[in-house]
Amino acid sequence: MNLKNDLILRAARGENIERYPVWLMRQAGRILPEYRAVRGSLSGFKELVETPERAAEVTVQPVDILDVDAAIIFSDILVVPEAMGLEYQLIEKKGPWFEKTVRTEEALKSIDTDFDVEDRLGYVMEAIRIASKEIDGRVPLIGFAGAPWTIFCYMTEGQGSKTFSESRKILYTNPSLAHELLNSITEVTIRYIKAQVKAGAHMVQVFDSWAGILGKEQYAEFGLKYMERIASAINEVPVTLFAKGAYNSVVELSKMDCNTIGVDWNMQMDTIRKTVGETRTLQGNLDPCALYSSHSEVERLTNNMLDSFKSKRHIVNLGHGVYPDVDPEKVKTFIKTVKSYENHY
Ligand code: CP3
Repeated sequence: MNLKNDLILRAARGENIERYPVWLMRQAGRILPEYRAVRGSLSGFKELVETPERAAEVTVQPVDILDVDAAIIFSDILVVPEAMGLEYQLIEKKGPWFEKTVRTEEALKSIDTDFDVEDRLGYVMEAIRIASKEIDGRVPLIGFAGAPWTIFCYMTEGQGSKTFSESRKILYTNPSLAHELLNSITEVTIRYIKAQVKAGAHMVQVFDSWAGILGKEQYAEFGLKYMERIASAINEVPVTLFAKGAYNSVVELSKMDCNTIGVDWNMQMDTIRKTVGETRTLQGNLDPCALYSSHSEVERLTNNMLDSFKSKRHIVNLGHGVYPDVDPEKVKTFIKTVKSYENHY
């Protein structure tokens, strides 16, 4: 299908763009009353994720309401551990919770790797097909998955955590178990991303949300190694690697076979640009909390960020996902400011 707006794909490939493209991580869901209405009509988050027609509906909402330059499929990174045999629940105000975890060889044996992703995660691919039809070429559709290290964190910890010390303990006490599990997650994730592309995803992002809790050497061994395998395996569409907090590994990330590197708000865009050069596109990085300020302040802060860009190779985003209680009107101001910016590099 011909895309009417392919700005983000051109920006990812380093081609010419007439302005910077903009979208928000976690734009599907959370902030929109229209999302909450759909979610409220079902039993909860999981039913929404597993009902392709409704998942497609909330995927398209930000395109209609916020006027972003890309849609991201509504799903969650936790569908992968579930497909591998660890069922999760989303507990209101607490977050994800897994009944079973993988901390021993015995638990590892019960983990499933050799399954057909179309069979077990077919609802995601179906949501992609339906969303593509509804978007009708207005903007590209982004597919995604969690990075192996971040998925490992949830599979071993069994829930969210500030420190993920159960997960990190295994790196010291049983590194071979860690590698076996990371390897299985990587294999499934590559097949899963390829299936999303086949279903219609125009680009993909790998979220390594917990990259920043490891030191440089451990992240190289237990994180980057597996990120690299994914990046090398996906050649069909542009790939974005978002390793939150991985300041010490930007050089290594920029050598991977990817188009775009996600930058969080703690990182200095011009420093990262100096490190990466012109060979990769950078995505980010307004502090998600900046959207709590006044409309004029959102405008000023967004313009400041755009002024700091020293290249056309940028995709505008926040430095992490948008927070649930942000006023959608502030998000609109952010997007309008990017779209009306005139001092493009
Ligand atoms: O970007 C998008 O809008 C697409 C949808 C999307 C969701 N989760 C929907 C969701 C994406 C890309 C994710 C990724 C995800 N999920 C990550 C990586 C990105 C990041 O933010 O670091 C992580 C770590 C998760 C795990 C997860 N899912 C947590 C910790 C939670 C609970 C806290 C929260 O974010 O609200 C979820 C639930 C979840 N995933 C919700 C949504 C819209 C909230 C469910 C609801 O209340 O409706």
